[in-house]
Amino acid sequence: MTLLKEPDFGTPAKDGPASVSLEVDGLAVSVPEGTSVMRAAALAGVDVPKLCATDSLEAFGSCRLCLVEIDGRRGTPASCTTPVADGMVVRTQTPKVAKLRESVMELYISDHPLDCLTCPANGDCELQDMAGAVGLREVRYGYDGANHLDAVVDQSNPYFDFDPSKCIACSRCVRACDEIQGTFALTIEGRGFESKVSPGAGESFMDSECVSCGACVQACPTATLQEKSVIQLGMPSRSVITTCAYCGVGCSFKAELRGDELVRMVPHKDGGANEGHSCVKGRFAFGYATHPDRVLRPMVRDKITDPWREVDWDEAIGTVARRMLDIKQQHGAGAIGAITSSRCTNEEVYVVQKMVRAAFGSNNVDTCARVCHSPTGYGLKQTFGESAGTQDFKSVAQADVIMVIGANPTDGHPVFASRMKQRLRQGANLIVVDPRRIDLVRSPHIEADHHLQLKPGTNVAVVNAMAHVVVTEGLADQSFVADRCEGFEEWARFISGAEHSPEAAEPITGVPAVELRAAARLYAQAPNGAIYYGLGVTEHSQGSTMVMGMANLAMACGNIGRDGVGINPLRGQNNVQGACDMGSFPHELSGYRHVSDDAARKVFENLWGTTLLPEPGLRIPNMFDAAIEGTFRGLFVHGEDIAQSDPNVKHVLAALGAMELVVVQDLFLNETAKFAHVFLPGASFLEKDGTFTNAERRINRVRAVMKPKSGQHEWDIVSQIATAMGYPMHYDHPSQIMDEIASVTPTFAGVSFDKLDEVGSIQWPCDAHAPEGTPIMHVDAFTRGLGRFVPTPFVPTEERSTRRFPLILTTGRILSQYNVGAQTRRTANIAWHQEDLLEIHPHDAEDRGITDGDEVTLASRVGETTLRAQISERMPTGVVYTTFHYPISGTNVLTTENSDWATNCPEYKVTAVQVALTHPVSGRNGQSDAERLLAAELVD
Ligand code: SF4
Ligand code: SF4
Ligand code: SF4
Ligand code: FES
Repeated sequence: MTLLKEPDFGTPAKDGPASVSLEVDGLAVSVPEGTSVMRAAALAGVDVPKLCATDSLEAFGSCRLCLVEIDGRRGTPASCTTPVADGMVVRTQTPKVAKLRESVMELYISDHPLDCLTCPANGDCELQDMAGAVGLREVRYGYDGANHLDAVVDQSNPYFDFDPSKCIACSRCVRACDEIQGTFALTIEGRGFESKVSPGAGESFMDSECVSCGACVQACPTATLQEKSVIQLGMPSRSVITTCAYCGVGCSFKAELRGDELVRMVPHKDGGANEGHSCVKGRFAFGYATHPDRVLRPMVRDKITDPWREVDWDEAIGTVARRMLDIKQQHGAGAIGAITSSRCTNEEVYVVQKMVRAAFGSNNVDTCARVCHSPTGYGLKQTFGESAGTQDFKSVAQADVIMVIGANPTDGHPVFASRMKQRLRQGANLIVVDPRRIDLVRSPHIEADHHLQLKPGTNVAVVNAMAHVVVTEGLADQSFVADRCEGFEEWARFISGAEHSPEAAEPITGVPAVELRAAARLYAQAPNGAIYYGLGVTEHSQGSTMVMGMANLAMACGNIGRDGVGINPLRGQNNVQGACDMGSFPHELSGYRHVSDDAARKVFENLWGTTLLPEPGLRIPNMFDAAIEGTFRGLFVHGEDIAQSDPNVKHVLAALGAMELVVVQDLFLNETAKFAHVFLPGASFLEKDGTFTNAERRINRVRAVMKPKSGQHEWDIVSQIATAMGYPMHYDHPSQIMDEIASVTPTFAGVSFDKLDEVGSIQWPCDAHAPEGTPIMHVDAFTRGLGRFVPTPFVPTEERSTRRFPLILTTGRILSQYNVGAQTRRTANIAWHQEDLLEIHPHDAEDRGITDGDEVTLASRVGETTLRAQISERMPTGVVYTTFHYPISGTNVLTTENSDWATNCPEYKVTAVQVALTHPVSGRNGQSDAERLLAAELVD
């Protein structure tokens, strides 16, 4: 594809019917009320010259280049700030406006370095284009007067430069940072000739509040803000539309290339999830795909203490098949299995679970979603009948009260956070339920109405107390409940019990009853109340209970089934939703049909020509236990680093060390690969063709930007392993896999690559009833018919703070890094975060003699690790917090085996710990847990 340049209509679109008719340069056009003359002209096919206007930002009217004449009006109004009126007659190309525009452009050019031929933006510069458009031929003022040509370039940001000598002070960057990103990092300092863009108070970009989202770079019409990669490699010449492979927001990007080299990732305006916005990870952190650490040739070894031996693909695939078959023959099909990855495409996940069920002959397939959002699937299925979030992201623009529970969107889901912040700045109310004072609680122009700073592990008590207020104060939506739900009476009796009152909950949760009552009233009385949540809800021993508790609350308040409401899981990884949809749980086939469902199983058996087991297989933790017991011996790990990401790492490592065959398919030799016998190189998202499904059930196309560096597609490798094991599997292209998925999965019935290419993206269910997909679920009826209220007793976790372990550790992510950091640590994002730190309240630190930056030992009942302390008032007393992006931090050596009662999702968010200044001899010597264990020869 050639370089895709999206049209720029100058000002944002307005909603409503095209009720205003006007004439622009003799062309008739009808547009919605409130549309600018500039946009109407563009829609009529007339481009009015512009510099300070762009259609992602509100009009500003500063450059005076877009002047027009309007019949019956005096002067030459700016078309970007002038709204249309019925019957208006506009002239955009009169001698008068042409002269004015030429003069304006002359002024700009007289203070601009005329180095167009060597400028990195040559060919992609609006100033250059506009000079041509207005027909500028000479600059009468000369170039000798005062100018900014000697301004110093700020190169502090690792991804883009700021060259003020090229700045035309149009303020598009400032407005992009304010309006789109919501960080307010930039200002225009000074006036007139002195005006200049400034990050913070005269700081560099790196020292400012800037979060490197790239919105300003994209908005800049000149080369003032320019990607370093463009400066180094030159302007790209072609683009491929694909999807970010980091978080569950699922942003669409134009991967822009020069020849075969990826120059930059530019957010796609038509992307349904992001509509042209991005965060630092998707926009800039793609360098890992070409990092020298990538392993590109398959490797095998007999024992994990042997050195790796590079082999060709045939030998590697043959080794996996032979050794898996050997184990199966000796110990039965139940001794082998696989873990699929939420990082991989739907098509890849589908073929892995098919390989397990059809070629391995077991249901021993589980997914890394087990350790993050499995309670979402369970809880929403029980209450609503579908294991997925209810809304599209756009819906937040209609929310009047937004409740964020156990999620930190500005770090974890930044592009959605920007959308949410836009709504909050318009006046929506905000309730934050989180032990930590996350950025949303107070950020520029945003302040939470209520921050319910609960003790970790008490979510259910909080949501029950909110529901208690709704029911006992008569705030329930009686008609919604009567028409759409069942089980309300029984649930209402349960929740009305005095033990669920905010007053009874206060000593348990630490949330003042008055505050909780006020928050509950605010949510219940809002015309539209929306709940957004994350792993702070699911990764608890009562994760599933909490999901059902939130569903109860939403149903009781009638907050389901329309814009602006709903229960919205913010999914961590790019394809968590998809991995779950594709049948990679041991008990479910694609589309969440239980393996014991004879009719569902028959569909697959007929298509696959095999017999499937009606009993669920092993979950990930069961696989580990069985490995230690000796009954589970062969594991295929597809794109997941379980040795770093799963809880109680010592247990995981012991299980891995006990297995006869561990096969790892990944980009890098990760921590798990230290225990592998076969390593199969994976492909980065830039090398993949397929689909990801984001948190709003949106199926997005992933398109290959380059060929797989290892020479093989992952879906094909899996098919070849299955075939070598005696179960023939073959596809020529991933579109055929999607066709198969659609043929066996009712919610995907209408999905195909052709359709996705035609419409851009589709939110499932997509079938005969909803051929264009389903942005909002449960509109007239719940998927299960009636929404079901489920009583949610609060059963506290067994993990308690004690005298020995008096603090509670909770964990999370930061913006610049991603999960176990395998990708982001191999990019310039390390400029923002070089190590995991332990956030601790000043009082807790003082009690222990800890000062900022001290190395501290963190011990739980299952393990210990060392981190540097960061004294932080974001924490309440009694709670400490860290991230888990570096293997050396060994955060998961501390986390316990407690897990959600329904799904086994680990309780990452509550671990009783003690923190003490580190004794010099107990440091980690720069080793990860896997390395320490191997060095200690605890495993063979
Ligand atoms: S990169 Fe983003 S956060 Fe930084 S200044 Fe630009 S718009 Fe603002
Ligand atoms: S940096 Fe770019 S966007 Fe910002 S004011 Fe200057 S020219 Fe305009
Ligand atoms: S918000 Fe998520 S999907 Fe979007 S660019 Fe950032 S990491 Fe990628
Ligand atoms: S584009 Fe209208 S004033 Fe700049």
